[in-house]
Amino acid sequence: MKIVARIFGSTLGKKYIMALTGLGMVFFVTGHMIGNLQLFLGPEALNRYAAFLQGLGELLWVVRLGMLGLIALHVWSALALSVENKAARPIEYGHGKAAYGASLASRTMLVGGMIIALFVVFHILHYTACVKAVNFMGVDFAHLDYTMKDGRVVHDVFAMVLYGFSVWYVSLFYLIAVGFLALHLSHGISAMCQSLGLRSHAWWPAISNGAKIWAVALFLGYAVVPGGVLAGFGKSYVEKVKSSVSAPAVTETVQQPAQQPVQEAK
Ligand code: HEM
Repeated sequence: MKIVARIFGSTLGKKYIMALTGLGMVFFVTGHMIGNLQLFLGPEALNRYAAFLQGLGELLWVVRLGMLGLIALHVWSALALSVENKAARPIEYGHGKAAYGASLASRTMLVGGMIIALFVVFHILHYTACVKAVNFMGVDFAHLDYTMKDGRVVHDVFAMVLYGFSVWYVSLFYLIAVGFLALHLSHGISAMCQSLGLRSHAWWPAISNGAKIWAVALFLGYAVVPGGVLAGFGKSYVEKVKSSVSAPAVTETVQQPAQQPVQEAK
């Protein structure tokens, strides 16, 4: 118990907590991005993957609660360290002006982190909780159904994502948010390596450049989804879903044909 109190009570301990929780989230955002890219493989692939995740049942809730714990600890340690820094240096160097040589990424860590946290809340309401009010279309995303080739009826996450990003300002918000995410990680990944004691002369340039490359790859991997939809990917598919949703007989439940050809999504 004493060791836990010492870790949570010391500046070094908080830096470790921030680094390790950040590392966990870097793994999550990388995995999530790879999963999302299956959109470009068509409805069968993306919906199979989403149904697999939903099928994890209790394990999914363990992962969700674990993620929530990581986010809470990351935010807490960041805020606590920022309060400690301010207390140690009540008058900032340069009277509030940016420190010489400090990058945009390092200067925007706190505000960028807050924007990302707000985005994640919106994103969960948008695509996980499927709250109608935040998709700005008044459509019940939870009741979009897709019939797999094996006959299983699953949630049409493919249609939901296309539908969601067909609202240009929602896509723009996602693009801005993933821009902040990339900026945050371009500094965060190298800061995390430094906190974990990996800042050696030989490795540092590779770590610092690797962090930037990883951040850019994440930006591109995420941005290509709303960007692709805005550029017309899956237009015919979403038009078909839209017409079924607005048809009075079907109300909000959309039944897709059992043999949905992948090419139709292009
Ligand atoms: C364009 C980019 C993105 C797309 C297309 C996307 C897509 C999705 C979808 C479809 C879901 C719901 C899955 C389901 O319940 O079936 C989801 C959940 C989620 N996404 Fe994203 N996402 C994107 C970006 C991000 C980013 C940048 C983050 C983190 C910073 C993120 C974090 C999450 C989280 C935490 C969940 C909730 C997972 C759960 O509880 O099941 N997403 N995403």
